[in-house]
Amino acid sequence: MARILVISGTPGVGKSSIAKALAPTIHAEVLTIGELVAARHLFETWDEDRSTHVVDEERAREALRNEIERARVRNDIEWFVIEGLMADVVADECDLAIVLRLDPRIVKTRLQQRGYGPAKVAENVQSELLGTCTYHMREARGNDFLDLDTTGKSVAEIAGIIHRIVQGLENKATYRPGLVDWIARPDIDPAGFF
Ligand SMILES: Nc1ncnc2c1ncn2[C@@H]1O[C@H](COP(=O)(O)OP(=O)(O)OP(=O)(O)O)[C@@H](O)[C@H]1O
Ligand SMILES: [Mg+2]
Repeated sequence: MARILVISGTPGVGKSSIAKALAPTIHAEVLTIGELVAARHLFETWDEDRSTHVVDEERAREALRNEIERARVRNDIEWFVIEGLMADVVADECDLAIVLRLDPRIVKTRLQQRGYGPAKVAENVQSELLGTCTYHMREARGNDFLDLDTTGKSVAEIAGIIHRIVQGLENKATYRPGLVDWIARPDIDPAGFF
């Protein structure tokens, strides 16, 4: 019986890198939502203004639920990790949910390095600044999830933290939702991101 771990977060925070580093340490298989959505064409429309596909949330949720159902009865893995921006859509069905957070200034440089245009960078940086993924996760699970600030930590360090969380060796209170609040930080000027 595999357990389900959901990892959400703004684009560029490191969900895929961290899930990949974590997987062998917890005997997990990783499902990347974006890959599932692309493979099954779970799109609703093409958003001309934002140059992006709009995901059909209902069909994506249904497909993810089926994956969870199949994963739960597996004995060859201990964890099934679902990672992606909209991972909160199945967060009500998981055993552990984590939102990865990252200083919006670093999100900005990462997405610029990726070659995202200014509008797409701004949209995602604002989303991190306001804690949109955390907000959605809270809607799905109340405060039963972890909000993990990855700023200044390597992929290996973060994977190590999650490994210890899974083993029950980490104090979960350190990552309780509400502690990461970029807007309240004196060194971050929210207006600079709009
Ligand atoms: N902790 C980290 N320290 C330094 N660089 C990192 C860290 N985590 C990720 N990166 C780098 O940031 C970039 C984005 O990481 P990654 O693709 O894992 O993010 P993601 O959250 O999966 O993004 P998306 O939502 O777009 O799939 C990559 O180039 C990765 O190497
Ligand atoms: Mg990714």
